[in-house]
Amino acid sequence: MKLLICFGTRPEAIKMAPICLELKKRNIPYKLCVTAQHREMLDQVLNFFQLFPDYDLDLMKPNQGLNGLSASILNEIDKVFDEENFDLVLVHGDTTTSSMVALAAFHRNIKVAHIEAGLRTYNKLSPFPEELNRQITGRIADYHFAPTHKARQNLLNEDVDAAKVVVTGNTVIDALFITLDKIKTGFTNTTIENLKQQFNFNKKVLLVTGHRRESFGQGFKSICTAILEISRNKEIEIIYPVHLNPNVQKVVYEMLSGIDNIHLIAPLDYPSFVWLMSKSSLIISDSGGIQEEAPSLHIPVLVTRNTTERDEGIQSGCSFLVGTDTSKIVEKTTELLNPNVDLLHNTNPYGNGDASTQIINFIESLE
Ligand code: UD1
Ligand code: UDP
Repeated sequence: MKLLICFGTRPEAIKMAPICLELKKRNIPYKLCVTAQHREMLDQVLNFFQLFPDYDLDLMKPNQGLNGLSASILNEIDKVFDEENFDLVLVHGDTTTSSMVALAAFHRNIKVAHIEAGLRTYNKLSPFPEELNRQITGRIADYHFAPTHKARQNLLNEDVDAAKVVVTGNTVIDALFITLDKIKTGFTNTTIENLKQQFNFNKKVLLVTGHRRESFGQGFKSICTAILEISRNKEIEIIYPVHLNPNVQKVVYEMLSGIDNIHLIAPLDYPSFVWLMSKSSLIISDSGGIQEEAPSLHIPVLVTRNTTERDEGIQSGCSFLVGTDTSKIVEKTTELLNPNVDLLHNTNPYGNGDASTQIINFIESLE
């Protein structure tokens, strides 16, 4: 069976890397195509996991619109399909890359496997445009790898054939464990060494990230106001690797620059970010991947979104939905930085690190 793996952004690369590594380990041939919807943020992941794309569509443009990006992906991936005949294309999650590559594959009568299938809020504006992206990919896909039983049930409720849905856990946990193992066995880099020098890890570290389109404007302003308020406590060291989307950069740098315990830094390479997460007491984020990773590190996450498709983390007390409401963020931060809060015993509902093994077992069984 001729396999093509295709992704375009940082989180997709992190979550698809374990699948690429598992294929390599079993000597199963595959081709890798990156749309490069992201550029620097993608390349650092390729570099860390030593992945070498066979096709690089190089599509990132500054502040690119969704329609322009979608049109470019459809056009450029079609040329890859002209080059080689594939039997199965593996796409991931809910980005414009995944939905457009799935659509292009469908147009060329190529089967599609969807990794991280079945996540839903059923609110097409939250997250925007990801909820519709994953629903589109879900309609097209021939095989669905659901991270949790809830995700599987969502697909069954949509009349997807149960035989085509496999619950595997999330491959991000595989990526996290691979990375933690490397760090434990001595991996370091200049970024990690610089972080150690630059910041005071005797204080409580509050790690912040954010990039959701539905929060652009007022949402981001309210989150920044909360961070300003939290920074009045000088026992807290706030570290914020700022996403490269210009709509995020502008408001965050305008509102949070120049405060002694707020450190705005460039996005971190994956191992440095994992290292920093492991040193943090609390994370404030709208990231899907971070909601999944943090429970394995026993770090609570305040989710700055109004909805989440990752309800399992909320139910198990690992994450907390606070929206972009300034006072909720401040109050919950104060509560969770209390030394009596103990998340050490919560287990990670998103998997135990063998998702890519299960996915490749299933794909091998199709031969
Ligand atoms: C995208 C995905 C989102 C995913 C997120 C992960 C879509 C519509 N959005 O959002 O689902 O959760 O990635 O981070 O698929 N940029 C750079 N360098 C980079 C990356 C981005 O400069 O390496 C800037 C560019 O100006 C680019 C802009 O960020 O045009 C937006 O990138 P884009 O991929 O469209 O959206 P994200 O907000 O990153
Ligand atoms: N991450 C990273 N560097 C950073 C911030 C995040 O490597 O500076 C990792 C993080 O560990 C997680 C993924 O990137 O695996 C999350 O990406 P993002 O928040 O951009 O996207 P989402 O998960 O929301 O789709």
